[in-house]
Amino acid sequence: MNKAILICFLFASIVSNAQKHNREQAPEQIMKTHSNQLRIEHRIDSLLGIMTLEEKIGQMNQYSGFWDATGPTPQEGDQAAAKYEDLKNGLVGSMLNVKGVSQIKALQKIAVEETRLGIPLIFGFDVIHGYKTISPIPLAESASWDLVAIKKSAQNAAEEAAASGINWTFAPMVDISRDARWGRVMEGAGEDPYLGSKIGVARVEGFQGDNLASRKTIAACAKHFAAYGFVESGREYNTVDIGTSTVYNVVFPPFKAVTEVGVRTFMNAFNLLNDIPATGNEFLQRDVLKNEWNFNGFVVSDWGSIGEMETHGYAKNLKQSAELAIKAGSDMDMESSAYVKELVNLVAEGKVEEHLVDDAVKRILRVKFELGLFEDPYRYCNEEYEKKVVGKKEFHEDALDMAKKSIVLLKNENNLLPLKKEQQKIAVIGALASDKTSPLGNWVLAGENGSAISVLEGLKQYKGNSIKYAKGADVALPDSKLNFTQELDVNESDTSGFSEAIALAKKSDVVVMVLGEHGLQSGEARSRTNIDLPGVQQELLETIYKVNKNIVLVLTNGRPLAITWASENIPAIVEAWQLGVQSGNAIAQVLYGDYNPSGKLPMTFPRSVGQVPIYYNNKRTGRPNVEIRKEVFKSRYIDETNEPLYPFGFGLSYTMFSYEHIKINKTSKRNIKVSVELTNTGTIKGKEVVQLYIHDKYGSIVRPLKELKGFELVELEAKETKTIEFTLTEKELGFYTNKGEFVVEPGAFNVFVGGSSNTTLSGEFSIE
Ligand code: NOJ
Repeated sequence: MNKAILICFLFASIVSNAQKHNREQAPEQIMKTHSNQLRIEHRIDSLLGIMTLEEKIGQMNQYSGFWDATGPTPQEGDQAAAKYEDLKNGLVGSMLNVKGVSQIKALQKIAVEETRLGIPLIFGFDVIHGYKTISPIPLAESASWDLVAIKKSAQNAAEEAAASGINWTFAPMVDISRDARWGRVMEGAGEDPYLGSKIGVARVEGFQGDNLASRKTIAACAKHFAAYGFVESGREYNTVDIGTSTVYNVVFPPFKAVTEVGVRTFMNAFNLLNDIPATGNEFLQRDVLKNEWNFNGFVVSDWGSIGEMETHGYAKNLKQSAELAIKAGSDMDMESSAYVKELVNLVAEGKVEEHLVDDAVKRILRVKFELGLFEDPYRYCNEEYEKKVVGKKEFHEDALDMAKKSIVLLKNENNLLPLKKEQQKIAVIGALASDKTSPLGNWVLAGENGSAISVLEGLKQYKGNSIKYAKGADVALPDSKLNFTQELDVNESDTSGFSEAIALAKKSDVVVMVLGEHGLQSGEARSRTNIDLPGVQQELLETIYKVNKNIVLVLTNGRPLAITWASENIPAIVEAWQLGVQSGNAIAQVLYGDYNPSGKLPMTFPRSVGQVPIYYNNKRTGRPNVEIRKEVFKSRYIDETNEPLYPFGFGLSYTMFSYEHIKINKTSKRNIKVSVELTNTGTIKGKEVVQLYIHDKYGSIVRPLKELKGFELVELEAKETKTIEFTLTEKELGFYTNKGEFVVEPGAFNVFVGGSSNTTLSGEFSIE
């Protein structure tokens, strides 16, 4: 590219980026941001002009926190010594996993004061659901469908992390997944690209705010680009093999949506796409992300994923891995040391053109400038401020609010819930009921084990009843290490606590059983082939049921579980996920009716693991099953129905809602208004997530039977009615072809509105 073209390109991308940031800003503000961006570009160019090739490559190198930065410096022979030397020599541009201002300040000081150019480091951290004040796991938050609350949760996480010196989070994970066996579903927004896009945007806006240089914001990172949520058979780090249409219509939309609101970084992925590792995938990183979507932030590799291209059998050695990764558009190398070891030679040998290095470095410097690190590298390093902000009361209040909103009521027969507040003998059973760590879920790197309010503690705050606890059985063996780098030892056989639990259940009016997954049974590297209640918990549930049928089952888990027996037998079931520090308070308020639940499932719950992957937006086969007729040569199982246990979008309330009078109004050729009357038919106030789905009946590629294209969270007083209106435009009516072109095809559509994806209230329209 010649210089004139480069300048034009640069200017175009600055302008487009500024536009993305400023869709709602006043003209003066837009001008100010533009000139600020231009100033930044100018400063990047001047800095780049004085950097050696080694220094440039150093910016592209990221190491994990490798020694106590405030203790003695590593000596030769220490594992950390070489990396420490790299840091002092300006060969490190970023660090991750460094916790707290004092550590961060010490490392920043080395970068700023001991290296030739003093370029500040950017500190990344997995702030996945809160920093120290752990909020509900992302899948749980997604069940709220409450974009305001989700944005606030990310905003608080950013404020807290930034106060602790962090500049950048490796979140949000916007991978769509349909496979509950994959442990990382806990970290995403579930199975739907529309909901996933809205939630991804809310999280990015929450983390980044509208000024990255503010002390309260951090850069976000859309990960894992791309298709990591489709690892075959749900096995972690496995191969991905999916069709082009799924890539364009399911995988890409959330990534594209967050790019449109200016997410500053991307992380690539461990998996293959079309047999090319995502890290070395030029189509993904250059063609789509950087060229088509005009992304001008930087791409970080996933941990060691550049080096892993050799293990995949894509590169013959680390050197070729580095070459393939930079050519494909991976800008920063997380922990492979491939760039820092190999790029100088690759450039010298003419295998990698230096302008590729320049482009990567510019992207990294751009984000550092935007964060204000050049103005003051220590701007996020104030210990007094850190003390004041980290763990503050307001974060806990918001975490409680978010936790309540995340709970999904799955079943409530005979109005067993809410619990009566007086004169009840309540048995609380299950190790997870008293667990103060599991409710935090996975990805708790700065939070503390034991920092959650347990369900038992929450329930005990209601003094009118007698609350007695019996563990029944451990989920994990008590000596299990509570460390996410170690495998959990699951209790598969110890039932010695059953008798105590049986005795307690027998003399109680109601039994609250808290069962599910230990906090470390979902998350990275936690794939399961069996998604039932782990260990001896199913046996415990059935045993207690024999002596007392008044059971409220509170599920705490990081993925959909196949709880078919429970769903058929237990009268009340509450999906409480892993709700973070305020878990027990939130659950108690819901069980006692002080909070009326309104969560809806962001992922389908299967009847059995054999149905997985199972998702609502599937396509009709040539031989659709007709359940009532049980014909042989149909798309069905011989031992199970096709239906899920609980569909996507499902969730009950303590009140009831009715949907009536769907109206369709075509205001122009491709602008359709759909309205419905929603009534709260119960006796108390409640919230409902009104969902709109479409079905494009015929197309040049087959379209899903239902696709979510709108939703609204509505609060209604008892007996109140409200008309809810949605607008469908080309954006909602179109789709991507297998060539990646967005098209809107004339034809007939069904539209459905209701309180879950299995709603049947429908209408029809067509477009020209
Ligand atoms: C590997 C994970 O896949 C990624 O999501 C995470 O951000 C990095 N490790 C850093 O911890």
